[in-house]
Amino acid sequence: MTNKIDHVAIIMDGNGRWAKGRGMPRLKGHEAGARAARKAVEAARERGIGYLTLYAFSSENWRRPKDEVEGLFTLLEGFIDREIDRLVESGVRLHTIGDLSKFPPGLSRKIALTAQKTEGNSGLHLTVALNYGGRNEIVRAVRRIMKDGLLPEAIDEDVLPRYLDTSFMPDPDLLIRTGGERRISNYLLWQLAYTEIYFSDILWPDFDESALDAAISWFSTRQRRFGMTPEQVEGDPLP
Ligand code: IPE
Ligand code: IPE
Ligand code: MG
Repeated sequence: MTNKIDHVAIIMDGNGRWAKGRGMPRLKGHEAGARAARKAVEAARERGIGYLTLYAFSSENWRRPKDEVEGLFTLLEGFIDREIDRLVESGVRLHTIGDLSKFPPGLSRKIALTAQKTEGNSGLHLTVALNYGGRNEIVRAVRRIMKDGLLPEAIDEDVLPRYLDTSFMPDPDLLIRTGGERRISNYLLWQLAYTEIYFSDILWPDFDESALDAAISWFSTRQRRFGMTPEQVEGDPLP
């Protein structure tokens, strides 16, 4: 049995501990994390994955020291400047999810312009979650629903996700969290309802192609049941 894998979401965790283990400042860990993210994009593309969604900055990460937050933004800006040509050439379509209105205006403009440049592409959908929190996303969706004046009867499980930031993508098939923690940390709360979840102890900067392949091969052994019995999924007649 092999599962089709279209959408991989990743919680890229462990940059700080990676740096600490080397006696380096946390930001060095984030730099190494950015390099790992670039490799992950490449690897996803090569494997024909349709959607890759990376958690880069959560709505709770503002709680970190100011210099770390500012360092992350500088890194992100540098990443965009350096990677844009490569992204455009390799056919990647860049998107963001999260509340960008809280970002420095120059940076959010640059992100929007970069995304625009990749709009005509037809390859991997690369989505970066920035100032993203699943609860915040649902709250913003509900606000938009109310503004649109929808009647209560008009809201169902098909309509609500059209108002989420992720309306253009399918739900993730596989979620990978690196860095050893077993939690979701407010990521894609609605969308992960039936996602297979893979926890890896590898710290994000060390996560490479072979680690991705290990996650994908684990995923291919899962039986996705969506509430049904194993026999139903296997197509065996019910007794
Ligand atoms: C994940 O690595 C990157 C971000 C949250 C921006 P961390 O910075 O959380 O690394 P650890 O968990 O402290 O090791
Ligand atoms: C989750 O990692 C957010 C990102 C990877 C961007 P955190 O390091 O912020 O998660 P917690 O705080 O340990 O749950
Ligand atoms: Mg962390």
